[in-house]
Amino acid sequence: GGVVTLDPGYKNTGACESAITFLDGEKGVLRYRGYSIEELAEKAHFLEVCYLLIFGELPTTPQLNKFHADIKAQSHVDEDVKKILDGFPKSAHPMGVLSSLTSALVAFNPSSVNVDSEEDMYKAIVKILGKFPVLTAWTYRKRMGLPLDYGGDSLGYVDNFIKMMFKKPSADYATNDIILEALDKLLILHADHEQNCSTSTVRIVGSSHAGLFISISAGIAALWGPLHGGANQAVIEMLEAIKEDGGDTKKFMAKAKDKNDPFRLMGFGHRVYKNFDPRAKIIKKAADAVLDDLGIDDEILDIAKALEKEALEDPYFVERKLYPNVDFYSGIIYRALGIPVEMFTPMFALGRLPGWIAQWREMRLNKEPIGRPRQIYVGKTHREFVPVEKR
Ligand code: CMC
Repeated sequence: GGVVTLDPGYKNTGACESAITFLDGEKGVLRYRGYSIEELAEKAHFLEVCYLLIFGELPTTPQLNKFHADIKAQSHVDEDVKKILDGFPKSAHPMGVLSSLTSALVAFNPSSVNVDSEEDMYKAIVKILGKFPVLTAWTYRKRMGLPLDYGGDSLGYVDNFIKMMFKKPSADYATNDIILEALDKLLILHADHEQNCSTSTVRIVGSSHAGLFISISAGIAALWGPLHGGANQAVIEMLEAIKEDGGDTKKFMAKAKDKNDPFRLMGFGHRVYKNFDPRAKIIKKAADAVLDDLGIDDEILDIAKALEKEALEDPYFVERKLYPNVDFYSGIIYRALGIPVEMFTPMFALGRLPGWIAQWREMRLNKEPIGRPRQIYVGKTHREFVPVEKR
């Protein structure tokens, strides 16, 4: 009951109380459980950050070891899942495949659905953390025509994922520290971002007490869109289009400003950041370092930098406080690491997984009510039915 306030896109509506991620959009501050994103990206590993987000504290070594062992014990996927993957055409977008496979996991793990106790939640959490990287790597390998495989038991969480992605049937696998560090950092930067579109989706689906896996499958679907996680793919496609067109960034800037043209500068703007996106700052630096380390000279990076410079000086972007966001430079790193463009958004999903889990767990532990927004009805009020022959 009561008065319904209209707020399309929930621009000013708080949907929950949360103790996971602090974000100050005016100052460009992002903290997970109180720890600054800059410090975590520099000093922590992704799995520690997963633990921190989900359980609220940085783990001790025994806690981290147990967590990792529990995840490893669950990091196999039923062989029949391969048959489902086989049914998709190679051309299928990996985000659709990943969302489908994640929902298929429910059928193979029915005990993960009705979880009320913290203990059952924990079991579901380590299962999805174990199986999701396998699904992501398999989605990639299927696309590339590579045999589906597992990584190695002795490897770290991210290292193991890289092995599952890139190991060739005939070649030994060796860790490349540059790739490992860059990827670990990227995953940390993507790990949570409070009530964004996909996370809100996970919370709202989960609020009906549907299980964790299916809520995450819905989150993956939400992340796919180009206004959200799909932007990382769209950025590279945009930069390539600019390059192909002769490199005239001004022409694309003009398109982005033209209100009759649906084109937007992908990787720019954010619902909450009205100063700068702190993640973009870190990623820009990392992109420079990775290209340098790997000895790659990417023309796309030059175009990105030119575009950023122009946008930051352009009154249209200045007035609207549009700054580069997390997706603007991340694709440049993924490219340098040899990850194909369609896999960029799945990489985002892998990074966001702990955030989705943490937010789902918090929602359940807080015993939040079912998510059910109201509306303001603007249709016809009452009409008399007219039989079909009289219409
Ligand atoms: N290029 C050109 N104009 C833009 C852009 C852009 N990228 N972003 C916003 N604007 C304009 C918009 O047209 C509007 O202008 P006006 O006031 O004249 O109507 C004004 O800026 C405010 O934009 P909005 O659409 O009301 O803002 P929003 O909070 O609803 O949308 C956004 C935020 C991120 C969806 C939007 O900025 C956008 O579409 N950006 C491009 C896609 C993108 O990079 N998404 C990734 C977001 S960050 C990570 C993630 O979520 O995955």
